[in-house]
This record gives sequence, structure tokens and C-alpha cells, in this order.
Amino acid sequence: MAAVFSNVSSLSLPSQLGNSRRFFFKSCARPRLFDKRIFAVKVRASSTAFVEAKPATEPIVVENEVSSSKSILACPICYESLTLIGNRVLSVDSAAGSTLQCNTCKKSFYGNQTHYDMTVSSGAKDYGAPMPPSTEIFRFPLISFLYERGWRQSFSIWGGFPGPEKEFELMRDFLKPALDGNIVDASCGSGLFSRLFAQSGLFSLVIALDYSENMLQQCYEFIKQEETFPKENLTLVRADISRLPFVSSSVDAVHAGAALHCWPSPSTAVAEISRVLRPGGVFVATTYILDGPFAFVPFLRRQRQNIAAISGSHIFLSERELQDLCTACGLVGFTSIRNGPFVMISASKPN
Ligand SMILES: C[S@@+](CC[C@H](N)C(=O)[O-])C[C@H]1O[C@@H](n2cnc3c(N)ncnc32)[C@H](O)[C@@H]1O
Repeated sequence: MAAVFSNVSSLSLPSQLGNSRRFFFKSCARPRLFDKRIFAVKVRASSTAFVEAKPATEPIVVENEVSSSKSILACPICYESLTLIGNRVLSVDSAAGSTLQCNTCKKSFYGNQTHYDMTVSSGAKDYGAPMPPSTEIFRFPLISFLYERGWRQSFSIWGGFPGPEKEFELMRDFLKPALDGNIVDASCGSGLFSRLFAQSGLFSLVIALDYSENMLQQCYEFIKQEETFPKENLTLVRADISRLPFVSSSVDAVHAGAALHCWPSPSTAVAEISRVLRPGGVFVATTYILDGPFAFVPFLRRQRQNIAAISGSHIFLSERELQDLCTACGLVGFTSIRNGPFVMISASKPN
């Protein structure tokens, strides 16, 4: 199931969506302007249909103050940068047969057919890192297979998620300071946004990162299905959000779609994101908030602790909580967009 959305600028969205869907703009970060470009994106979002984000009516403004280096990958143990052995460039096609070596820890991180394994425990023979169900569930091959074949689309029905291409349009403004730079699609799942980012041509490097090897496998399969996919700017990486394999202050933007509530510790994860973002770098994320009518559910605050203890999934009860989380992790300029339970947030690393 996939829908074709017409291009709508963020500010005209409320009328386009009708009265049942309300979008609120809490504040609007005004980026500095340098040069301009227009983009058109087409991405395969499910096995059966294409979705399209049409050229923007408003030109996208590019700020050139971005990191151009491709050497942002770091050892997840010591955070020192890595030496790439084998292929000379990072890309979807070059992972197989390549090795990333840490000269400090003397540890190697190997690429396979689909991705680089950059988890701390990569290469361990007997130890398996225990993760909560909200992380483990996405490692099942069936869940990964179903993710873009109905699972993700269901977020629009119960959660007010506008859908990948509309979400991409909504985040364009937030991402302006990172255009032409690198972007990490954190907890990318099967890569629906990573593919959009790569195909947009707006970024010099896209890292699709997830803990689930099967989600990354699916991402790889979707890419393989498209003959003209620009593979040279995309790299697939397996990593834990709480231990990001990037050099500190090296990343221009981190996007995390529908993932904050799945992370074992949102605060550790956002702190890691804050560490890797360069000054002025942007964090954009979507999740859902149970407020409005849900605020009347008795003992919801206490129940969510039990839910978190059992499932590992964190339920957010207000935007203030998300703002607090970002502020506590050293991010500033919090902005949010709402549509029912759906929320898109953005915050930046101070300059
Ligand atoms: C609901 S999916 C979101 C996928 C995609 N970003 C989207 O917008 O649809 C949540 C993703 O978070 C990933 N995830 C869960 N725990 C993680 C962790 N500890 N580190 C990295 N990724 C994690 C899962 O593997 C899953 O792919």
C-alpha cells in the first residue's frame, strides 16, 4: 500500500490534510541561506508500488558549511576513526570484502554482502548482546520482510504518521543546514528514508544504520531492485543506537524515523546523537505521543514504566518530555510538528 502525495509546503499542510488532521508549528528555525536547489525524489516504498515526492515549489536552500569527509566512521569502542582496508570508498557495493580497522583497539569490523557490522560485539563467537523485545522484534526475518509491506503503512491509520514521502517533505526545512553534507538515518529499518535521502541527491553521504541485520538485508534487496539507484553515496551499517560508530562532531544530520520509542534508553541514544553531531548539526525524529484523550487513561504514567520494563518500548506522554530529553542531551532550538499522536521533532547541536 503506498500513496502518491502531491508536493505541499509545510505551511500549507493543514488545509491539504483536512480538518481531521491537525498540524501545529511550535516554532520555526530559520536557516541561513547560501545557494538553492530543487529536488525530485522517487523511491520504491513497498514491493508493489512507487511513491513519489515531486519537485518542491519552494527551492531548497543549501548551506555549504558541512563536513565533506567520508571518514566519519569510528570504532564503537574507543571512538577513534578507522582505516578502510579493501575497497577505497564506502558504498552499498563495497562492503563485501572490506574491513574497517581500529588502530587503537586493534579490532576489525567486517563488511558482508549487505552491510558493515559495527556493533561492539561484532566478531564475538560465544557472547550475544541481550537486547529488549522492542529491539529484538525487528531482527526477525518475517518482521523485516513485512515492515514496508503493511507494518509501516499502519502507522498512518493508528498514529497519524503522514507517510514517508510527506514526512520527508516536512523534515526538509529542518535539514537545510545539513544539505550537501552527510546524514545518518538512525534505526533506518528497511531503509525507506535512507533510500529517499540517497535518491534526492541532497547529501554527499547517507549512512543507513540499524541494529537489525534483517532490516539491512531488506534495505539492500530494495536497492538491488532499482537499476538506477545511486549506490555510491549510501552505506549500510549495523550498530546500536547507544554506541554510534562515528567520530565525535562529524555528522551533519541524524534522522530517526519512528524509532525513539523503540530504543532501550532514549536518553543514552540522544546523548550519543548529540556527541556525533557537529556544531550546528541537526537531529530530526518522529515518534508518537499519548496525550489528548489518552491523558485521561488512569495510571498511564505508572503503566508505561511497566510497559517499558517488559517491552523496552518507551511511551512519550507530552512534547515537553521530548523537549526536556533533547535539552538534557545538549541540543537546542527544539521544534515540533504534530498530527494526532504523530510528532516530528527537531533540535540542533549548539554552534
Ligand atoms: C519502527 S522501526 C523504524 C524504521 C524506519 N526508521 C521508519 O521510519 O519506518 C524501528 C527500528 O529501530 C531499530 N532499533 C531498535 N532498537 C535499536 C537499537 N538499539 N539500535 C539501533 N536500532 C534499533 C529496529 O531494528 C527498527 O528497524
